[in-house]
Amino acid sequence: MGTAHSTEEEPRGTFLHRIARRSRSLAFLRRTVPTTLACASGKGGTGKSFVAANLATAFAARVGRCAMMDADFGLGNGHLYLGLRPRLTLQHWFERRATLEDLVLESSFGVDLIPAGSGLPRLAEMPTEELVRLAADLPRAIGQQKTLILDAAAGVSTQTLRIVGSADRILLVVTPDLSALTDGYALAKCLWLRDRDLVVDVVVNKSTEDAGKRAFDRLEDVAGRFLDLPLHYLGSVPNDPAAERALRKQRPLVLSEPDSPAAIALVALADRIAGRLATQRRAGRFFERLAVR
Ligand SMILES: Nc1ncnc2c1ncn2[C@@H]1O[C@H](COP(=O)(O)OP(=O)(O)O)[C@@H](O)[C@H]1O
Ligand SMILES: [Mg+2]
Repeated sequence: MGTAHSTEEEPRGTFLHRIARRSRSLAFLRRTVPTTLACASGKGGTGKSFVAANLATAFAARVGRCAMMDADFGLGNGHLYLGLRPRLTLQHWFERRATLEDLVLESSFGVDLIPAGSGLPRLAEMPTEELVRLAADLPRAIGQQKTLILDAAAGVSTQTLRIVGSADRILLVVTPDLSALTDGYALAKCLWLRDRDLVVDVVVNKSTEDAGKRAFDRLEDVAGRFLDLPLHYLGSVPNDPAAERALRKQRPLVLSEPDSPAAIALVALADRIAGRLATQRRAGRFFERLAVR
């Protein structure tokens, strides 16, 4: 065993050297197709971006790196929860002034973000052919990352349904408010009408454990009565002043105050989701589904 050479030490032209060179040139065949998780909600302000950024950070801490795309194209603010300041955004890509790879912002804690524009109606209503172009450009921008987290726009626009509905897993982020639950149900219904095999995971944000469970039970009751849609409860995240402190410090909460109640809940949520992503049956087809015209 002690005499084994690394391929780097092999003289050029030997069998091992040729194999190594060949396997590098065939690297694209081994390209990891990431498993995609969309954080979605019917109503804005439920905490999608906050949850998405902290889940991405927690995943990166587990496996090294994690990709996140701010898919709230016209009103993106996912970068704030990661303490990043994008110079180039999807607007530059949309206007053909940058490639998707140019936009990727690498954070020091392992999250690679594709940032969205802000206050851009044209981008918010991205036409289907641009989504197809996005699907074609994403694999190169994401590289070898195993997980892609999508921070979706709120609502039930065709574009949002298409992005969220193309993800391998959907995490519906609601709060215990009746309006957030009602809009969350409306989104789940719209997604289910497009895909009857859908499974939706639910987290109740800004909530105590009791209120979270009660909110989920209401949602599940309505979804069970009117739709044949399975919902899975992944727990609650408390309303925690540490969230605002982290935002001011420009650090993801799970890193800036890991012992805060919300950070503990988010790490537990990341563990549960990691387990679900690992056993994901329809994994790795996000790009294909997004590219269907
Ligand atoms: N668990 C929480 N505790 C306290 N504040 C929170 C929590 N989750 C989100 N927030 C705050 O709620 C606001 C909206 O969150 P955001 O993630 O931007 O919502 P969305 O992306 O769904 O529109 C932000 O000010 C955020 O800091
Ligand atoms: Mg948001």
